[in-house]
Amino acid sequence: MREQLAVIGAGTMGHSIALTAAWAGMPVQVWAADLHDLNKGKAGIEEKLAILRDNQLITDDEQIEIEQRIRFTTALEACLSGATFVIEAIPENLPLKQIWFEKLDRLCGEDVILASNTSGLSPTDIAWKARYKHRILVTHFWNPAHLIPLVEVVRGAETSDEAAQRAMNLLNHMDKKPVELKKDVLGSIVNRLQYALFREAQYIAEMGVATIEDIDTAVKYSIGRRLPVTGPFMTADMGGLDVFDSISGYLFPDLSTHSASLPAMRALVDSGSYGQKNGKGFYEWTPAFSRQMNREREQELMDWLKKDRRNRTPETT
Ligand SMILES: NC(=O)c1ccc[n+]([C@@H]2O[C@H](COP(=O)([O-])OP(=O)(O)OC[C@H]3O[C@@H](n4cnc5c(N)ncnc54)[C@H](O)[C@@H]3O)[C@@H](O)[C@H]2O)c1
Repeated sequence: MREQLAVIGAGTMGHSIALTAAWAGMPVQVWAADLHDLNKGKAGIEEKLAILRDNQLITDDEQIEIEQRIRFTTALEACLSGATFVIEAIPENLPLKQIWFEKLDRLCGEDVILASNTSGLSPTDIAWKARYKHRILVTHFWNPAHLIPLVEVVRGAETSDEAAQRAMNLLNHMDKKPVELKKDVLGSIVNRLQYALFREAQYIAEMGVATIEDIDTAVKYSIGRRLPVTGPFMTADMGGLDVFDSISGYLFPDLSTHSASLPAMRALVDSGSYGQKNGKGFYEWTPAFSRQMNREREQELMDWLKKDRRNRTPETT
C-alpha cells in the first residue's frame, strides 16, 4: 500500500522527518503551529537540502523536486486531508500528546495510522484517550532524521499487527533501518543504552577520574570507533565472553546506580545552562564553536550515509 504521509509539527524533528519522506519520493504535508513555525520549518528544509546538494548526495534537479513534494500548512484539516499515515512531532509532554491523539483519532478515518515520534513515552499512555487504539504506535526517528538511519517502532498494548507492519513497510520505503520492539518499555532500546552511558560518564567526572573533555575523547576514540561496526553483543562475542564475564563480575557492582542527574548536571540545568541552545552547558558554545561542531557532526553523518548507499546490494535498491 502506498501511504500518504502527514507530519504534525514543523520543529527540529517534524521538518527533518518530512525531508526524509520527500527524499524517498513521497509527497508529504506538514502542519505547523503558526506562521513563524512554518517559516522556520521551510528554512530548515532549504538549508538541509543545500548541504545535501553541496555534498553530492542529491543533484540540483532533485533538490527542487524534493522541496516541491513538501507542503506546509497551518490548517490541520488541510494537512490531514487524504493522509493514510500521520507522524506526530510536537513537544515531549504526555498530556499534550494525549490531547492531540484524541483529536487526530477523531479527525482521521479508522484505517489511518497515527504514529508518535516521542523519545521514550509509552504508546499505550499516548493512546489513552483515543477510540481506535489499534492504529496508534511510536515511530522514533533520531535527530537529524534525514541522516540517522534507525527508527524504533514501538507498539502499544492494543496496536494491531497490521499497523506495525504498515509502519515497517513505510520506513523501509523511506530508506530507514527500522527495528521493531517486542515490548513497550520507557526509552525504547537506544535511549536506555545512551542514558546508561551518560549516567556513567557523569559519575566518572563526579569522582574526579577525568575531565569531561577527556571522557568525551576516550569514548570517541575507542568504543565510538567500533560501535558503527559491532553492537554490544557482537563486540562481546569478538572480545571473548569469558573475558567479558569476568570483567562484568567486578565492574557491574561498581557502576553508577543513581536515579537522577548527578550534581554537576543538576547545577547546570538549575542555573539555566542548557547547552548549545543557549550558549553554555558542559562546554562553552560560542557561535563559532557551535557552527564548527554542527558542521563536523553533519559531515560525519553524511559520510556514513554515502557509505551506506555505496554498500547497498542491488536487491535493496
Ligand atoms: N530533538 C531531538 O533530538 C529529538 C529526537 C528524537 C525524538 N524527539 C521527539 O520528537 C518530538 C518533537 O521534538 P522536536 O525536537 O522536534 O521539538 P520542537 O520544539 O523542535 O518542535 C515542536 C513542534 O511542535 C509545535 N508545538 C509547540 N507547542 C505545541 C502545542 N501546544 N501543540 C501542538 N504543537 C505545538 C512547535 O511549534 C513545533 O512545530 C518530541 O516528542 C521529542 O521528544 C526529539
